[in-house]
Amino acid sequence: MSAPLWREREFLAAINGRPGAKLAGDITSISIDSRTVQPGGAFFAIRGENFDGHDFAGVALDAGARVAVVGMGFEFHNHKGPFVVVDDPLAALERLAVAARARSGAAICGITGSVGKTSTKEALRLALGASGATHASPSSFNNHWGVPFSLASLPRDAAFGVFEMGMNHGGEIEPLTAMVRPHVALVTNVAPVHIGHFNSVTEIAEAKAEIFSGLEPGGKAVLPADSPHFALLRGRADDAGAQIITFGVETDADVSLHSISEEAGGSRIQIEIFGQPLTYRLGAPGRHLAINSLGVLAVVHALGADVRAGAASIDAVKAAVGRGARTVLDVEGGTALLIDESYNANPVSMAAALTMLGAAAPKDGGRRIAVLGDMLELGDEAPRYHLDLAEPISASGADMVILSGPHMSGLGKVLRKKIDVRYAPAAADNQAVLLAEIRAGDVIMIKGSLGSKLGPLVATLLRRYAASAPHSKG
Ligand SMILES: Nc1ncnc2c1ncn2[C@@H]1O[C@H](COP(=O)(O)OP(=O)(O)O)[C@@H](O)[C@H]1O
Ligand SMILES: [Mg+2]
Repeated sequence: MSAPLWREREFLAAINGRPGAKLAGDITSISIDSRTVQPGGAFFAIRGENFDGHDFAGVALDAGARVAVVGMGFEFHNHKGPFVVVDDPLAALERLAVAARARSGAAICGITGSVGKTSTKEALRLALGASGATHASPSSFNNHWGVPFSLASLPRDAAFGVFEMGMNHGGEIEPLTAMVRPHVALVTNVAPVHIGHFNSVTEIAEAKAEIFSGLEPGGKAVLPADSPHFALLRGRADDAGAQIITFGVETDADVSLHSISEEAGGSRIQIEIFGQPLTYRLGAPGRHLAINSLGVLAVVHALGADVRAGAASIDAVKAAVGRGARTVLDVEGGTALLIDESYNANPVSMAAALTMLGAAAPKDGGRRIAVLGDMLELGDEAPRYHLDLAEPISASGADMVILSGPHMSGLGKVLRKKIDVRYAPAAADNQAVLLAEIRAGDVIMIKGSLGSKLGPLVATLLRRYAASAPHSKG
C-alpha cells in the first residue's frame, strides 16, 4: 500500500498548530467543505465570502473527518474534536501546500490564461497520465484557497502535477505561482475576461505573466504564438529566465497546426511538434479546444513525458457540462442537438461557441438557434463587446437568436434586419419561446455568463427531451 497523503506527525508539523494535538491516525485527503469531507480527511475551516467553515467544523467531524483545523478563538461548544488550533486555517493550508511541494519529486505544470484553463488542465491530466501518476487541481479550484487546496492534496509519489491558477485582479497570480513553483508555465491565451477590473487587455497580459515569477530555475514557458500579446508574454518569460516554447496556428511555432477536421463528436488534428509530424484525435469538438491541445502537447514535451502516448490518450477528453457538452434531444418528429455552453461567457468564448454552432450541421430542414445571455464583468466596454457579436453570429449561419439581458437588447436591434430575433429582459422569460420553437433537426447552442442564468433553460430542455445522459457526445 502506498503511504498516506499526510502522516499524522508530518501534517501537524507542516500546519504548525498549537502543540498538544493528537490525531487518531494519518490524513488521507484534504477538505474545506463539510458536505464532501471523506473519512480520514482533514477539514480546514476557511472563511469564504458567504460562509465561515468554522460553523461546519462539527458537521465535518461527525462526517468522519480525522481533524478540524480551526482558528484561534473558535468556540468548541460540545464537540470533542479533535481540533487543531492555528493562527489562521487558510495560512495553515498554505503551509501544508508548501510542504507538499517541497517533498514532491513530480514534474509540475502551472496553467493560467483568460479561457481554456480547466479544459486544458483536464486534457493534461489524461495526456500526462499516459506517462505516470498525475495529480491535477479538482474542478476550477484556481484561486487563493483553490491552489493551496490542490497543492496540499498532491500525493507524495505523483510523477506529474498540474495546477490551474486564475485571477480577477493584478497581483493575484504571483503568490499562487510562488507556492506551485512550476517547472513549466502555460499561458493558454489572453482576452478581455474580467476586463471590468482592468484598464486594458495589455494589463491582463501583464497579470497572466506573473506566473513566470514562480518558475523553477531552468523552467520553461509555453506561450500562445497567435496571441496579439505574444511579444509581451515572451518578454516577461525571457526576463524570468525561462526557456520559451510556442504553440499555435503560426507556422513558426514549435508546436504548429497543420489541419483540423471535425468528425463524430471530436476533431482529427494534424500538427508538427519540434519538426515531427503527429496526428491524433481529440474527443471533444471545437477549433478552440483543438488549438488548446497543441499547448497540452507542448507541455507534455516540456515536462519530458511521452508525447505520442499523450496524444493518443486525449481522445478520451469530453466536453464538460456547461462548456460544450452535447446532448441529443428527443423532440416531436425526430431529434435535435443541444450544445450546453451555459457555464460562462466572454467575447472569445462566445466567438468560439458560435464557430462550433456554425460547424454543427442541422438535419432535415432544422435550424441553427443561438440562445444567448449577457456576458458579464466587461466594464465600460460592455455595450461594444455585445454589438461585436453581430459578426460571429452572422458567420455562424444562425437562423434564429433568442436573446436575454440588458446588453443583448442592443445587439437584438442590430440583428433584427437579418435574422429572426427574440428578446426578453430575463433568460427565464425565454423558456416558453424556446420550447415553442424547438423542432426536429435543430441545433441549439445556449451560452451566457453564469450570472445571466441560462443554465435553467438547459436543465428544462434536458428534463423534457434528453433521451440519454446529459453528457453524451453528439
Ligand atoms: N482557446 C479558447 N478560445 C476560446 N474559447 C475557449 C478556449 N478554450 C476554452 N474556451 C471556452 O471558454 C469557456 C471556459 O473554458 P474553461 O476551460 O472552463 O476555461 P477557464 O478554466 O479558463 O475558465 C468554455 O466555454 C470553453 O469552451
Ligand atoms: Mg476554470
